[in-house]
Amino acid sequence: MFRFTTAGESHGRALVAILEGMPAGLPVDQEFINHELERRQWGYGRGGRMKIERDRAEILSGVRHGLTLGSPITLMVENKDWANWTEVMNAEPRDVPPEKSRRVKRPRPGHADLAGGQKYDTRDMRDILERASARETAARVACGALAKQLLVAFGVEVKSHVIQLGGLPDVPLEVTWEQITSIADDAPLRCTDMEAQALMVALVDEKKRAGDTLGGIFEVVARGVVPGLGSHTSWDTKLDGRLAQAVMSIPAVKAVAIGAGVRASSLPGSEVHDEIGYDETGRQFTRHTNRAGGLEGGITNGEELRVRGHLKPISTLRRALRSVDIDTKEEEAAAFERSDVTAVPAAGVIAESMVALVLASAMREKFGGDSLGEMRRNFDGYREQLRGY
Ligand SMILES: Cc1cc2nc3c(=O)[nH]c(=O)nc-3n(C[C@H](O)[C@H](O)[C@H](O)COP(=O)(O)O)c2cc1C
Repeated sequence: MFRFTTAGESHGRALVAILEGMPAGLPVDQEFINHELERRQWGYGRGGRMKIERDRAEILSGVRHGLTLGSPITLMVENKDWANWTEVMNAEPRDVPPEKSRRVKRPRPGHADLAGGQKYDTRDMRDILERASARETAARVACGALAKQLLVAFGVEVKSHVIQLGGLPDVPLEVTWEQITSIADDAPLRCTDMEAQALMVALVDEKKRAGDTLGGIFEVVARGVVPGLGSHTSWDTKLDGRLAQAVMSIPAVKAVAIGAGVRASSLPGSEVHDEIGYDETGRQFTRHTNRAGGLEGGITNGEELRVRGHLKPISTLRRALRSVDIDTKEEEAAAFERSDVTAVPAAGVIAESMVALVLASAMREKFGGDSLGEMRRNFDGYREQLRGY
């Protein structure tokens, strides 16, 4: 079974992840994992954490001499800021004086603080925010980087870009794979349109000055996906549903759309469904358009997979919103600690990982095999079947 889990608090010693179900014999590029971790940290409008630490993953198990063993892979990303938090976050019982405890008692609207505090019956909402924080997604990206390496072995690439930020431009950008691949790694907002990006950057500056925050929309595109991943047969095998859950689980993502998604509901069928063609030379079916975003009936159809994630604005505002002190029940400004103005490009990178993990999982289900060689033989046999269809 292909699955992963993460552990770790935002200011704890480290984040860890265990990824199970990779085939044996896959070459692992550790620098690629670190590069992905850095990509998650970039982006205009992020807070100060990138300046403190540049994430690096250490592989603790499951890889030997550069190749996967087929056993669980453990990854660890240390929190370099731990040195400043050892008292506050220590696992041992200790008496930290109140002025040094960094207790959180003024919940932030839009964050997990209050609902989590009530649920877990803790009067220090740091117990909640330390895990709710998007820092946890660094561990997901480390796993996602391994999933991407498996996918690349089968010709699949996954990329993301920002198509709208704070409502700019009015209509979310629609761009080709080639345009997405031409985005420079250091583009401030991972956007294909320079003019739109300049407006977005100016808006981020304006909201930063005002102590406010912004949301936006990213799109993840996966290319080279074989037709036939996922299944129409049961609700939880439909790949669109699995992708939606994976992308929705990213903190602050509040809507997920596949292909034309939301827009499709207001258009007639003739402007939505992708007409079918056949390419004699390649012996494969084609589509004149791709509004379905590569999925029909919960099954990949061989077109580019296109998944959008809509982020709400960051909930920690420097110009804090109204809240209530949980001790006194008096109105107070919500708590504030170092925070991003926007994180849409980073969320796109995290979503690349989540999409890669879902696709890798679907590939493992369909093609099985204990080793990469066995998986490839099964894959090649299926490709042959498709050519004869
Ligand atoms: C990459 C990324 C960075 C984030 N950074 C912050 C941040 O600095 N401050 C903050 O309040 N929320 C931040 N968030 C959003 C919160 O983690 C999220 O809103 C919170 O955990 C509540 O979960 P929900 O919005 O999914 O309901 C970030 C989200 C992502 C994806």
